[in-house]
Amino acid sequence: MRVVDAFRENLGGEPAGVWHAPGRVNLIGEHTDYNDGFVLPFAVPWGVTAAVRPREDDTIRLVSLQAPGRQQVIEEIDRAEGWARYPAGVFWAMRGDGLPVRGADIVIDGDVPQGAGLSSSAALEVAVAIALNDLYGLGLGGLELAKISQRAENDFVGMPCGIMDQAASALGREGHALFLDCRSLGSRAVPFDPSAYGMRLLIINTGVHHELADGQYARRRQDCENAAKRLGVAALRDVTDLAAALQQLTGDERKRTQHVVTENHRVEALIGLLRAGAVQEIGALLIASHLSLRDQFEVSCPELDIAVEAAVKGGARGARMTGGGFGGSAIALVAEDKADKVQEQVRLAYRERGWADPTFFTATPAAGARRLA
Ligand code: GLA
Repeated sequence: MRVVDAFRENLGGEPAGVWHAPGRVNLIGEHTDYNDGFVLPFAVPWGVTAAVRPREDDTIRLVSLQAPGRQQVIEEIDRAEGWARYPAGVFWAMRGDGLPVRGADIVIDGDVPQGAGLSSSAALEVAVAIALNDLYGLGLGGLELAKISQRAENDFVGMPCGIMDQAASALGREGHALFLDCRSLGSRAVPFDPSAYGMRLLIINTGVHHELADGQYARRRQDCENAAKRLGVAALRDVTDLAAALQQLTGDERKRTQHVVTENHRVEALIGLLRAGAVQEIGALLIASHLSLRDQFEVSCPELDIAVEAAVKGGARGARMTGGGFGGSAIALVAEDKADKVQEQVRLAYRERGWADPTFFTATPAAGARRLA
């Protein structure tokens, strides 16, 4: 294994083990996680592999094959920089919980497509979390590892994300999407195998990441919290009478509420269709989700809108942006025999606008975090 060779070369000796944690794509339930709502992501076949050996001191030595020549030696966690803040944050969160976690030598190898918005950061956090869990005998389950990883990102890295990405990475199951109630944190594996219906879920990586993404994410979250407060509910998840709620709100808070409440219903509707074996029919819900994210939640961008529009024009049953927005990827549900046509149509639409070609992947639900060796 490449990561083991790199471990021997860069850090000397043998790792105690090798772990893998995947990235994710979200089928539906966008910007609902931090509103105590519902999400339906699945783990993708790409992720982060980590070769790890525990240490007898508190030092963390980190090497990433994607950042060659820059070994980071972290003696004081607060000093970790750049990408190293994600793994360092996991140590920070575990130690903060009083868990007996000392240092480690770590080599990281990732293959999540760059800039695709498929949660390479969650994969990195969860890979380190599961390795430390095993090496230090912490006995934590997948959900605990997801929570620790989220806390690393919220309170150490400083990105106020919800729990979806880390939960999908930790709890994903091959051939299944993960239905997660982000309030109770109860989850269920929902069979999702479009190939059994002659379909596939195409990922369209726009290759763009608009600068405003992080600041806007925090602002959307704030809009939602303000709206919930004004409505006198703990979270937008609790809005049952949408029409009445909208009458009490104006401007951005009104739009955000409309999205979150309807998106939660779309998650439930989509699961209902999957259970009925009506995979083709979920396309309409994907489109409705996209329009709501574009017009009510306002987190799309021209590259995502055009990808969705062109995919549908090319014959996709449905498509939507996936993840936080402002770039990253869109997903499209396409019949096998239309996949080429859909890709061609999207490529063409991009070329007409002078944009660089997007890249395409087929996403099949993969297993969540696990030990490889
Ligand atoms: C990002 C966050 C998630 C979630 C999505 C939007 O991926 O990390 O927690 O909020 O955006 O659904």
